[in-house]
Amino acid sequence: MRDAEKRRQLGTIYRKAADEVSEIYAARGCPPHMTEDKFQRLMAAGAHLWAHMGDAPVILIPCLARRVMPPREALPKAVADRYDAHLAYQEQIRGASIYPAVQNIVLACRGLGLGTVITTNHILYEDEVRAVLRIPADIATFALMPLGFPRGKYGPVVRKPLAEAVFADTWGNAWTDTV
Ligand SMILES: Cc1cc2nc3c(=O)[nH]c(=O)nc-3n(C[C@H](O)[C@H](O)[C@H](O)COP(=O)(O)O)c2cc1C
Repeated sequence: MRDAEKRRQLGTIYRKAADEVSEIYAARGCPPHMTEDKFQRLMAAGAHLWAHMGDAPVILIPCLARRVMPPREALPKAVADRYDAHLAYQEQIRGASIYPAVQNIVLACRGLGLGTVITTNHILYEDEVRAVLRIPADIATFALMPLGFPRGKYGPVVRKPLAEAVFADTWGNAWTDTV
């Protein structure tokens, strides 16, 4: 989406949502895996983003149609009996059909020297986003990605050691390189 007026409107909606979410981050405080300094940098980066979202030359909104669940009566008894589990399952995996594509967009942008980032705060006011872009009610938005050439340093990213992100065989069981 490149229209300047619509980008401005989306920026305003995003800001309203991000103001709320930032209060939650502030009340939660610095998470245990982060230094206070890093947490403050994260909050400052977020604040810059929500002040300037509307300035990004392009805003990409990945969308997905809601899949309709067949009525319980249309299903064999063994499945109908587990209907609620299937509803919960479908709800939990909803984003899995689109976030891999979002990640690929992030990587493609980086490969082209473009900056982008995944944001989702606008979903708190999704109806307003829908109204601006005339998105039908059965289509959900999953991210709002500002795209543009970065103004500042665009250095290499850091990767955590595997042992900080992975357990071996059982939850809580430390990963070692010899596992
Ligand atoms: C699912 C998901 C949703 C996110 N939503 C937001 C968001 O709405 N606003 C925001 O400032 N950062 C959001 N982030 C964090 C940003 O994507 C990004 O990691 C953060 O702005 C730090 O930027 P950097 O990774 O380039 O340092 C989200 C991250 C994920 C994984």
